Amino acid sequence: SLPVRFAVSILTADFGRLREAIQEAEAAGVDWIHLDVMDGVFVPNLTFGPLVVEAIRHATSLPLDVHLMMVEPERYLEDFARAGADHITVHFEATYHPHRAVQKVKELGKKAGLAVNPGTPLEAFEPLLPELDLALLMSVNPGFGGQRYISTATERLRRLKALRDRLNPTCLIVVDGGINRGTVAEARRAGADVAVAGSALFNERPLAENLRALREALAD
Ligand code: DX5
Ligand code: ZN
Repeated sequence: SLPVRFAVSILTADFGRLREAIQEAEAAGVDWIHLDVMDGVFVPNLTFGPLVVEAIRHATSLPLDVHLMMVEPERYLEDFARAGADHITVHFEATYHPHRAVQKVKELGKKAGLAVNPGTPLEAFEPLLPELDLALLMSVNPGFGGQRYISTATERLRRLKALRDRLNPTCLIVVDGGINRGTVAEARRAGADVAVAGSALFNERPLAENLRALREALAD
């Protein structure tokens, strides 16, 4: 079986009881808490900013993996760092200067990630890969939880893994969007080291049971 790290996205959790949701995830054994920040401009949805990240910081000791789906993320990197983010991932498409944004995250002492949308050529990763701690490949168009895995992501993960192995073996590949029992093994085999999962973990069933089901899907 191929182990994978799980980063739980809180997007489909009950925001009225976020602390309990996060503690449930921590108790179940997830590896990271994935926080989807959306600005209503880069993506057609709005979520939360540094204040909520800070509140979550007080609810868990797990790494906070902050995924910024916002234009000009460089304007807020300091705020997210101060709020307690451990990893900060910016989108290639959301800034004129992805390189500068990644450098800034590293200067702030945080792990730096670059994310690319399903329609962006993988070559976007190439110049920055030697600098990255995380390479996040979107397997849905960002904006909403509960979307369907775009099947071309699998081949892109394979190509990204080859790029990563050549340019920066310590960089982790993160797959984000539509990960569930039916897709997690395929994404893992193709090269994902970390799987973000939202609706497959936060739904009507207990999170621990859902996490077990994902791990079982990897064992087959
Ligand atoms: C999509 C977000 C994802 C998403 C994952 O814009 O970046 O993190 O919420 O949710 P699921 O697992 O439901 O696709
Ligand atoms: Zn995300």
